[in-house]
Amino acid sequence: MTNETPPTIYLADYQPWTHVVQSVHLAFRLSPTATRVTAQLHLAPNPNRPGRHDLRLDGENLVLIRAAINGHQVKATPDATGLTLPAASLPAGPFLLETEVQIAPEGNTALEGLYMSRGMYCTQCEAEGFRKITFYPDRPDVMAPFKVRIEGDYPVLLSNGNPVAQGPGWAEWDDPWPKPAYLFAVVAGNLVAHSGSFTTMSGRHVALNVWVRPGDENRCAYALDSLIRSMRWDETTYGREYDLDVFNIVAVDDFNMGAMENKGLNIFNARYVLASPETATDDDFGRIEAIIAHEYFHNWTGNRITCRDWFQLCLKEGLTVFRDQQFTGDMRSPAVKRIEDVLTLRARQFREDGGPLAHAVRPDSFIEINNFYTATVYEKGAEVIGMLKRLVGDAAYDRALTLYFDRHDGDAATIEDWLAVFEETTGRDLSQFKRWYTQAGTPRVTVDEHWDGAGRFTLTFKQHNFATPGQPHKDPKVLPLAVGLLNPNGDEVVPTTLLEMTQNKQSFTFDGLATKPVASILRGFSAPVVLDRSVSPEDRALLLAHDTDPFNKWEAGRALAKEVLARMVTDRAQPGPDWLDALARVAFDESLDPAFRALALRLPGEDDMAQTLHMAGHVPDPAVIHTARRQMAQALAGRLAQGLPGLIVSLAEPGPFTPDAVAAGRRALRLAALSLLSRVDDGARAATVFAQADNMTEEVGALTCLLDIGRGQAELASFHARWSDDRTVMDKWFALQIITSAPDDTARITDTLTRHPDFDWKTPNRFRSVIGALSGNHAGFHHASGDGYRLLADWLIRLDPLNPQTAARMSTAFEVWGRYDADRQAMIRGELQRILSTPGLSRDLGEMASRMRGD
Ligand code: BES
Ligand code: ZN
Repeated sequence: MTNETPPTIYLADYQPWTHVVQSVHLAFRLSPTATRVTAQLHLAPNPNRPGRHDLRLDGENLVLIRAAINGHQVKATPDATGLTLPAASLPAGPFLLETEVQIAPEGNTALEGLYMSRGMYCTQCEAEGFRKITFYPDRPDVMAPFKVRIEGDYPVLLSNGNPVAQGPGWAEWDDPWPKPAYLFAVVAGNLVAHSGSFTTMSGRHVALNVWVRPGDENRCAYALDSLIRSMRWDETTYGREYDLDVFNIVAVDDFNMGAMENKGLNIFNARYVLASPETATDDDFGRIEAIIAHEYFHNWTGNRITCRDWFQLCLKEGLTVFRDQQFTGDMRSPAVKRIEDVLTLRARQFREDGGPLAHAVRPDSFIEINNFYTATVYEKGAEVIGMLKRLVGDAAYDRALTLYFDRHDGDAATIEDWLAVFEETTGRDLSQFKRWYTQAGTPRVTVDEHWDGAGRFTLTFKQHNFATPGQPHKDPKVLPLAVGLLNPNGDEVVPTTLLEMTQNKQSFTFDGLATKPVASILRGFSAPVVLDRSVSPEDRALLLAHDTDPFNKWEAGRALAKEVLARMVTDRAQPGPDWLDALARVAFDESLDPAFRALALRLPGEDDMAQTLHMAGHVPDPAVIHTARRQMAQALAGRLAQGLPGLIVSLAEPGPFTPDAVAAGRRALRLAALSLLSRVDDGARAATVFAQADNMTEEVGALTCLLDIGRGQAELASFHARWSDDRTVMDKWFALQIITSAPDDTARITDTLTRHPDFDWKTPNRFRSVIGALSGNHAGFHHASGDGYRLLADWLIRLDPLNPQTAARMSTAFEVWGRYDADRQAMIRGELQRILSTPGLSRDLGEMASRMRGD
């Protein structure tokens, strides 16, 4: 670490700022090495902070050129984190503070503040990047209208709000909506637009532009279409209308995150904008649609209503994720979307909750806020809203949201404000429910089933809330448990009923049943818990065949598969006919949605298995899990072999590629079948599909099938020859080889690829596609040699001085050390120690490494 330990920030210490900002006027004179930023801040004492206070402004890496109050120069000497103007030097009432600073965007490799990406200027201010642009109270509860003038010799000059005036080499923008500094943005460069328009429900005409580098304009149509659908959906579903004359989206090659909701000027990682059938997979199209929607939805949940402080991050992120999940469900299939969301929740959030980085949806302290844009804040934050909606019902949810938008428009709000609108509209006391925001950890729920032989069936649930770092004691949570009952023929005898569990142990009784039922518990994954339930394979098969709840239908197959795989790992058992037959029925059942069948054929992941085994009291061996999973796939391929070629043929799309959900679902099933067939035909069919593919989904899908069985080197080379000029496709080329590599080869192949001339490690997308793929290959990363651990740590240490935010995010690969054997634990802890003793380590990576070590 650096000489001083960075301070910890506490929620309990919140205080409003000493002043208010009435308006902001910024002027930029752009230059790669010496950009000048002039800021005119109309300030006044904050009536909520009586007394006279020093004026403290945040500022980092700024060269102060001059400062003036009400036109009079003042002497001010910034320190490392900002500028203080003593109370005595300030007028008693409102005043104008003018500052001019110089910054160097070209040297900004952290990609926070104003930086350059391939000749273009862009900004990223959330969470605390605005302080790298000018001296300012860089906190979300300080909201102000902004006017911006940009000067620079570039054809396109953009900022937030509406365009006011422009001429050669300059442009002026006016954003009338008060906003916090983190939503500020500027873009300048040689860009071209793919344009459209939207008329809002009240008749406002909005110009829409997707700005990209010349040459990329023919890959913007899907992003624009997704934006238009998002705008319409937010009107019809939430009654929310857009509020400016323009909405601009810019695609940037170098970006730490996926995308950013700056007011009226969303900035995107180019990979979440650019798509054509030849270069983007169905998954890419799906992600683009979801992220465009997510950032657009922030206009109301985030921008019009923002967060009082960064502890309230889930207020905007959890709600906006929940909204984008609803949107995708409506655009595609709600059932398939729910299954996919639960898969990610378990893979990312349950994993986080089960390790040293576990934290509450609303944490109460942090060192570096960038480290809290986590699966817990986002995905569990969204689950908590889903639970709330389930508990109060759809109509009450709509009323509460209407009140939230009415009451808090223009506010910087808190979770207390959010819960209060639900309490007021429903009369419910949500104080126990609030524990979902304050207590970390995934509850484990066990269930005991009792049939009295005379029509009465009782379910007794227990919830276990285990200790997490800093939270040794937990109180019971409110668990909405959606339950339905089937009779032994598979007919539903009790439709979905919501049981509300509030105690550590609680029973619920169903009367008047003719026979002992089979319970379908936690329908729709109604609460983010681990359900520990022993169910006979016959009952699981019954649920897989007959459950009316699509989530639990899938879940029954999933649970069966996990039990089979677990026994293969622990007892060297072979997969039995129950599971194979049940899966065969689903695979070839044409009454089922192909997308659903594809999901059912997806085997449990190795990381998921390691976590499951760990929770069941075993020490997972990554190599054994890897081998067992391959054997499982082989057994399934053998069982389905006869029907696979027919399935593959029947699912071929006759016409040109369309990215819609129906076509994507068919391709997903076709590729799942191809992957299995490759294990019995030695890749013959996959080689043909690869050669004939006219879209990236099938091209990369078939190549994956080949690499997965240790073939496909010629195809890999031809893929490279064809796509070497395309950055987004080349990211796939890099990642694929590492993801599909055999565990013994993963570290070596990764290392070799880092020496490839196209491995530009300073571009986050490329870094992630290589180093992220290393930690994504479970058995390769956790190889007993420790080579995977060492290689990851080497690269994190190398990236950290340039881009601490991305280094810190990628370090979470190490969060799982507690699952493994003593040797692996020692090796990972050794790497964490090596990271922590690196001179000049960033606050970002330093905080992550020490939390993971358990400090
Ligand atoms: N506000 C965030 C972007 C952000 C994250 C800025 C972290 C600064 C630090 C944005 O709305 C967001 O959540 N983006 C996600 C994608 C989204 C679909 C969940 C991202 O970038 O991963
Ligand atoms: Zn977001």
